[in-house]
Amino acid sequence: MIPRLKPDLRLSDLIALVPSGDSAEDIGRFERGFAELAGQKHAIAFPYGRTAQIAMLKALGRPGSEVICPSYTCVVVPHAIVKAGMRPVFVDSDPADYNMDWTFAHDATGPETAAVIATSIFGHPVNGDGFRAYRAANPDVIVFQDCAHSFFAGDAHRDGLAAFFGLNVSKIITAIFGGMVTTDDDAFAVKVRSARSSLLSHAGIAQSLRRSLYLAAVIPAFWRPVYGIVNRLERWGALDRFVKYYDPSVIDLPADAFKTMTSIEARTGARQLSRYERIVAHRRRLADLYHHELTGVGDLLMPPKHDAMTVSHFVIRTDHAEYLKSACRTAGVQLGELIDYDCAKMPSYRDAKYIGERRSSAFPAQVINLPVHMGVTLDDAWRICGVIAAEFGASAS
Ligand SMILES: Cc1ncc(COP(=O)(O)O)c(C=O)c1O
Repeated sequence: MIPRLKPDLRLSDLIALVPSGDSAEDIGRFERGFAELAGQKHAIAFPYGRTAQIAMLKALGRPGSEVICPSYTCVVVPHAIVKAGMRPVFVDSDPADYNMDWTFAHDATGPETAAVIATSIFGHPVNGDGFRAYRAANPDVIVFQDCAHSFFAGDAHRDGLAAFFGLNVSKIITAIFGGMVTTDDDAFAVKVRSARSSLLSHAGIAQSLRRSLYLAAVIPAFWRPVYGIVNRLERWGALDRFVKYYDPSVIDLPADAFKTMTSIEARTGARQLSRYERIVAHRRRLADLYHHELTGVGDLLMPPKHDAMTVSHFVIRTDHAEYLKSACRTAGVQLGELIDYDCAKMPSYRDAKYIGERRSSAFPAQVINLPVHMGVTLDDAWRICGVIAAEFGASAS
């Protein structure tokens, strides 16, 4: 079965399990390599993207103030705002590219606003005209770029005080788990490092062992012949511990959210850096093919085309999402459904401030993600288009 996501991890990456004897240097090397790839002065490693976000927000030193974020984003983003002692203000999204609508962000901004989380969702760069107009009108609001999906799409990561990245196995490049902050601001880098020192305790041997086992399990789990079994276990709920990352009524963090990144993760991440360009190029090729073959088919709403997008996800909307997922599953292809909720609608955030027209609340039932990882060949993508087109009674060219 073709999985909905697959990290570019190979058997040779198991070399990361061999200790180097200098954990601080492993992390330092990964940070320097990441900073170089980002074209920025500083990169600071964390155990998760959400921990990186908490440290950045804490480094601002404005507890109790408001932080604007999209309502249609990963739920861990508002969770991190709350855990940093601040208040999320949710803003509606633009149905054209799923990014936050900057007109609503403008309406949400007031004297209590400390920062805005600018999210380049699904790899669509956020820094267009709306973003520039918002910044010009609100020069005192700190911008943090959420590049967990997009990485370096359109250089958005440099359009703010700092950026944060997620590095779990669903991301463009991975460090098994892990997160990163990048910035060009020397003084802010010092503050983030200091927040990291006070927030995190050292990951011990047990944590390293857990990460080692995870790496060793994840490589075969995504092999096609094995993935059919993994998918069945997932649908039975047997893998909930690994794949279900939120409970809609609880604002929580993983038990190891405040442990330092392990050296195994740093060594794995460092090996990924040189693969970044090739991975993104492959995703763009698949996106081009999907656009070419599926535009105009049935009721499919295609994502925007943008030269700079890194295609972390190829998201289409349809009123037949369940039907297409089931047809593709029968044909041996798993379609994803990220993000299948709207944060402001969750019980935990019912009382939070919201600015918008609830447009993004229509997305969860409609979105499906076509696979764009390195395990999908152009022939696979043709076949996937054929299955989808056939379901609509059309034929792929
Ligand atoms: C848009 C977005 N921001 C932030 C994060 C946080 O990353 P992490 O899961 O590493 O905490 C994620 C997680 O996948 C995400 O999708």
